Amino acid sequence: MSTPRGQFSSKTGFIMAAAGSAVGLGNIWGFPTQTASNGGAAFVLVYLILAFALAYPALMAELTLGRHSRANTIDSLAAVAHRASTKFFGRAVGWYGLIVASLILSFYTVVAGWMLAYLFAPICQMLGMAELQQWLTSQSLARDLIFGGLFAGLTMAIIAGGVEAGIERWSSRLMPALIILLMLLIIYVLMQEGANEGLKLYLLPDLSQVTNPQLIVNAMGQAFFSLSLGVGTMMIYGSYLSKDDSLPRLGAIVTTVDVGIAFTAGLLIIPAMFVAQHHGATIYAEGGSLLAGPDLIFQVLPVLFDSMGAAGPFVALAFFGLMTIASLTSSISMLEVPVARAVERSELPRPTLTFIIGGIIFAISAVIIANFGQLFGLVVDFTTKYSQPILGIMLCIFAGWVMHRDRLLRELKEGHEDIEQTLFWKIWPIYVRFFCPALILLSFWQSL
Ligand code: PFF
Repeated sequence: MSTPRGQFSSKTGFIMAAAGSAVGLGNIWGFPTQTASNGGAAFVLVYLILAFALAYPALMAELTLGRHSRANTIDSLAAVAHRASTKFFGRAVGWYGLIVASLILSFYTVVAGWMLAYLFAPICQMLGMAELQQWLTSQSLARDLIFGGLFAGLTMAIIAGGVEAGIERWSSRLMPALIILLMLLIIYVLMQEGANEGLKLYLLPDLSQVTNPQLIVNAMGQAFFSLSLGVGTMMIYGSYLSKDDSLPRLGAIVTTVDVGIAFTAGLLIIPAMFVAQHHGATIYAEGGSLLAGPDLIFQVLPVLFDSMGAAGPFVALAFFGLMTIASLTSSISMLEVPVARAVERSELPRPTLTFIIGGIIFAISAVIIANFGQLFGLVVDFTTKYSQPILGIMLCIFAGWVMHRDRLLRELKEGHEDIEQTLFWKIWPIYVRFFCPALILLSFWQSL
């Protein structure tokens, strides 16, 4: 029934793939704007603490569960349970995660489609195709369907290739490209007039905000979304990891890369907004907060690109290339969750299953596109605001309570012989049992 499971060929391959999943629109778009509207560096500080104190332990729960069971998320959770009732609960949580991963992918595809359309626009500009450029940068049903579909097609093409030839190969190519583009853009933007003002806002903390409950809730939501937690993507990537690698170390590297790139993206986005303001763009909303949503990407930044003369289209190309790459390495990890389950349960070849499942998810994207006003916010809230924290609690419960401590230890010892002597083993098992679920619950409560 089952085909041989894929595996990452190297540690670096896993790091590229898992960091690729983590680094996405959430880092480059979400984090900087959340920072700017939540007390600047005060938010960065709280985010850093929560990323390592809460999200990292939850990430470790997922990686350990996944590598231990070496199966798709549904069967993984059922496999660690002993009793029929907990097995049933495991399957239910696995399905819930699979549905949430698919729904996140459906709205992510819509937004990534916009990035792709804006990526083609500067090319049209360079070729003097003004009408097409205008069409690409104006909202329309046709544009969103075509470019959402194109992005969904790219995601499917990579996932159809499997773990090593698809996920690992493409993440390893795209992640270095992402970092290079990000660095080039930062250097360019920081040399422009007005950038310093943005840097100040981004880096100077308003410490009175550190204890603001809303700031803490926002930082936790951001950390969970950014590390792709709760929905099983990290669990499935963990299931493709070799037993020779140290999980706590790899998890720490992935968390550090994710946090590092989010922070670095802030050095681009916030100064870029102030440079755009210098050129006449409005960067504050009516209530006095910094613009954050689509207005930021599709109105403020284009003013900046237009002000750059001949360099403008190239900078726009680099920026939307960066956004598209970041989206793609994340979207593949979401599609892998349902595809892994199907591949392990069906006789059909992986490419066929990938195109069937990817097609169904894109059909949901199309429904969202056609009913944008009613559905988009609803799906975002259901998945990221409510479901990800609930699922995060469930997965901590599985790692902390359902999976026995000696099995946890045995799993973590693989690739890390002396784990028992480390601070990690002294703290983490208790932490994931009590603190993580309680803290997530508390923050979740606050957000309601
Ligand atoms: N971590 C991605 C980002 O920051 O954009 C979003 C994401 C990817 C969320 C994968 C959930 C997921 F399963």
